[in-house]
Amino acid sequence: MKLAVIGLGNMGTAILKGIREAGIFKAEDIIACDKKFSDPDNKPDEVFRQVRFTDDNRSGVKEADVVLLSVKPQIIEHVLEEISDLSSGKLFISIAAGIKIDYLKQKLGNDAKIIRVMPNTPALINSGAAALSPDSSITSKELKTAKKIFSAVGETAVIEEEYMDAVTGLSGSGPAFIYILIEAMSDAGVLNGLTRETALKLAAQTVKGSAEMVLKTGRHPAELKDMVTSPAGTTIAGLSVLEDRAFRASIIKAVNRAVERSEELGSSD
Ligand SMILES: NC(=O)c1ccc[n+]([C@@H]2O[C@H](COP(=O)([O-])OP(=O)(O)OC[C@H]3O[C@@H](n4cnc5c(N)ncnc54)[C@H](OP(=O)(O)O)[C@@H]3O)[C@@H](O)[C@H]2O)c1
Repeated sequence: MKLAVIGLGNMGTAILKGIREAGIFKAEDIIACDKKFSDPDNKPDEVFRQVRFTDDNRSGVKEADVVLLSVKPQIIEHVLEEISDLSSGKLFISIAAGIKIDYLKQKLGNDAKIIRVMPNTPALINSGAAALSPDSSITSKELKTAKKIFSAVGETAVIEEEYMDAVTGLSGSGPAFIYILIEAMSDAGVLNGLTRETALKLAAQTVKGSAEMVLKTGRHPAELKDMVTSPAGTTIAGLSVLEDRAFRASIIKAVNRAVERSEELGSSD
């Protein structure tokens, strides 16, 4: 099976690196397509040794069984029109934010098989969270291939396309909400005399470790919270302030507003 990746920017490069490291496709079965490769000074990274590079999207798609579309949403129409006559029967995996399966089918033709995916930026360090939404013609084998690709750069979940805006608000925008939390916690550490470096390291590791506790133990966050919260102790004193300042409600409202904004952007196309 051969893979073409169209668009080798932040995401395309990170996903391709994950694919190579996990050995999902052999290097010689990958064609990486990006217009930057028309510039002879732009040498591909060593990690992609033996991968073929081209600035010609059509030649990549012609050979491939699976095509990963990782160009910006603003230019995807141009790319789809360029390759549409080559698309019949091939599997297209699109990560373009806000671009719907119906639109991809309309541009590529009904014989193209489509899986729409919403990854997030921690995929750049193999800690991503990606939601996959297959069109109704996708077989379990095709879905398995897509899951393997995104499992190489993090966790995956399969969802109905109607929930893509929910995913965009939660795991797409979510990293920014968590960065604010880490920054605020480290500010509090500095306020109490820690160096910035120490405070930032402790805050980030606390978020990472807590997230891993949820994922690895499978326990409900409320149960894990109770384990840290002793009677009349420090944690309950801090938690009472968070409840007083509506921390939970603020987070719910922030995600909800991001979901609404994603819906607004999708309907203004
Ligand atoms: N970054 C995120 O957090 C994130 C999260 C979820 C989904 N996504 C989606 O992922 C996709 C890629 O995002 P990104 O951040 O990786 O963007 P990016 O860094 O700009 O990468 C896009 C790449 O495509 C290249 N390109 C432009 N026109 C092309 C063409 N006609 N044929 C082939 N390649 C072409 C660009 O080259 P030039 O730079 O030379 O134009 C660039 O290398 C987007 O659709 C975005 O919505 C991103």
